[in-house]
Amino acid sequence: MKLFILLASLCLTLHIVSSSLQQYQAIFNFGDSLSDTGNLLLSDPRAPPDVIGKLPYGETFFHHATGRFSDGRLIVDFIAEASGLPHLPPYLALKKGQNFYQGVNFAVAGATALDPEFFYRRKMSSILATNYSLSTQLGWFKELKPSLCNTKQECENYFKKALFLVGEIGGNDYNYAFFVGGSIKQLKASVPLVVDAITKATGALIEEGAVELVVPGNLPIGCSAVYLTLYGGPNKAYYEKRNGCLKAFNAFAKHHNKELKRALGTLEEKYPHARIIYADYYGASMPFYHAPQHYGFTSGSLAACCGGGGPYNFNNSARCGHIGSKACKDPSSYANWDGLHLTEAAYSHIAKGMIHGNFTAPI
Ligand SMILES: *[C@@H]1O[C@H](CO)[C@@H](O)[C@H](O)[C@H]1NC(C)=O
Ligand SMILES: *[C@@H]1O[C@H](CO)[C@@H](O)[C@H](O)[C@H]1NC(C)=O
Ligand SMILES: *[C@@H]1O[C@H](CO)[C@@H](O)[C@H](O)[C@H]1NC(C)=O
Repeated sequence: MKLFILLASLCLTLHIVSSSLQQYQAIFNFGDSLSDTGNLLLSDPRAPPDVIGKLPYGETFFHHATGRFSDGRLIVDFIAEASGLPHLPPYLALKKGQNFYQGVNFAVAGATALDPEFFYRRKMSSILATNYSLSTQLGWFKELKPSLCNTKQECENYFKKALFLVGEIGGNDYNYAFFVGGSIKQLKASVPLVVDAITKATGALIEEGAVELVVPGNLPIGCSAVYLTLYGGPNKAYYEKRNGCLKAFNAFAKHHNKELKRALGTLEEKYPHARIIYADYYGASMPFYHAPQHYGFTSGSLAACCGGGGPYNFNNSARCGHIGSKACKDPSSYANWDGLHLTEAAYSHIAKGMIHGNFTAPI
């Protein structure tokens, strides 16, 4: 299977890509709710898992709640399927003696790229959904590593056939601050810190032996029902004409993505043997914001399928799964699932863009 070879030949930032990529034998994933397959639910019996632990979460494909923040599968599930691997088990579900040679998912919904202390210092501790930030997830991987391989040679052989997905992560570092009233100007100042945290974790994984790494950027947050509800207004100039998304927030996501790409370029100079690939989630999702109908999103791409009413079907007092909320009949006709997260249908388009399209490129 030729996963992620993609545009290599067209890519002008030349980097010689191994001619034909072997099928991955394992995937290790780090991140937040965009890729958590159960860790938050297992880690914390309190809110918000009281919602993600029951239907309608998981109603598509799994037909029961799994801890995924969606109606069904996530991008990481589609990537695993495309590699011929089982869906990754969440780290916190691993049992003693279990074989996890085909990969593990360390992502935790609510996780930040920066350590929790950063938010405590800014008196934002109450808003963190989890303390399992990117560095904690990295620690989990390091703890697990001796049960995967031991000698240098053994690890080298194993990891050269393993894919490391580092993100999406960092979105929450901004979400938390925006949701307590942070301004775009203030938040811009934290971009270098967030990008640095992601880059450092990526470098640390390479030091541990990773050679195939995909680092996704942020989604167009200005298109999400939460942001549209919180920051929308009567001024037409706030919105992108083509898709109705919030200009300033999309520009912010683009800014983060640009900085991330730049930092990954520097990282690759330091580790030329590693193959670091940037995954453009923003670009891969833009087509369905521009032409929702074309992708089967007959109910549009902006309003949430599951929510408590309002112009974008997002109501913070009646979030998806809470009293006063309701799920749509056909989630595949929506791109947005619960306000902040996407539907399985939307994730499958992004995954396709990564696997078959050109939305992944070597740095
Ligand atoms: C994170 O850690 C702090 C300090 O130990 C604790 O007060 C807080 O409850 C923790 N938060 C979560 C969501 O576990
Ligand atoms: C949001 O939900 C609350 C609680 O169910 C409800 O009282 C309120 O009317 C809702 N607001 C909108 C705009 O639907
Ligand atoms: C993908 O290819 C299209 C058409 O060739 C091009 O317009 C677009 O910029 C490419 N996207 C990326 C992320 O390389």
